[in-house]
Amino acid sequence: MRAWSRAARADGRRVGFVPTMGFLHEGHLRLVDRAATGSDTVAMSIFVNPLQFGPQEDLGSYPRALERDRQLATSRGVDCLFVPADQAMYPRPPLVRVSPGTLTAHLCGPWRPGHFEGVLTVVAKLFHIVEPDLAVFGRKDLQQARIIRSMVDDLNFPVTIEVASIIREADGLALSSRNAYLKPVEREVAVLLSQALEEGHRRYRGGTHDAREVVAAVRQVLSREATILVQYVEAVDPDTLAPVTTATDDTVLALAAFIGKTRLIDNIILGVGLGADERLAATAGTV
Ligand code: PAF
Repeated sequence: MRAWSRAARADGRRVGFVPTMGFLHEGHLRLVDRAATGSDTVAMSIFVNPLQFGPQEDLGSYPRALERDRQLATSRGVDCLFVPADQAMYPRPPLVRVSPGTLTAHLCGPWRPGHFEGVLTVVAKLFHIVEPDLAVFGRKDLQQARIIRSMVDDLNFPVTIEVASIIREADGLALSSRNAYLKPVEREVAVLLSQALEEGHRRYRGGTHDAREVVAAVRQVLSREATILVQYVEAVDPDTLAPVTTATDDTVLALAAFIGKTRLIDNIILGVGLGADERLAATAGTV
């Protein structure tokens, strides 16, 4: 992998990189488009990173479809697909790991202990292996993107991080590989997640700047469906990821909830709402 990347750079080409865990959907492919815009050649990794899954989480059942992914990635312009084996990435459990610090105090952090340490450790390894000039992450995993940016800044990784907007189904559901877990009836319920965030946006635009009231409006929509088990709804500062008391245009409104056994996350920037994100046409669906 590193030889390919170094050869590209020796030729004067900038290397763009999209790290993924596979089971690609249009959201991932938009990251490829974005990487291609800012670079001359694009590498993608597919690696379901055991280090970022908790003991009760879905590592074993995480959806995998390597041949399908390979076709989607190459037809979208990925020049190099890096699919390391677990044993190659972790010949033994790493003794040294990258700590995310205080950025995990809120949102997913308290609910997924060790998760962001696992993400940073694998992303640091991937950056050292791929040596990209540019790496692209999705804003759906906003906390992940923020923490990776912090790792790159704080530890002087020579890579530019770009964050691409969320891609949504026609009804507003954010694309996620985990949407594949949803049973048809759960898929219908899942639309409430983005609708709840939209309600928060509506309240804010209507003049409600008390963050607690905005959060309460989101929770109220989610409570319409008993099968939604909310983990958190928080209005946070986009830089510190700490909860705010007064909502402003750049406040992030984020949530995590279980629908059945499937844990989904979503977020909006309060000043723009769902309008910042792209919706797929009704017929397009998830690839
Ligand atoms: O967002 C993901 O798919 C993963 O967390 C990442 C960044 C590929 C690290 O395993």
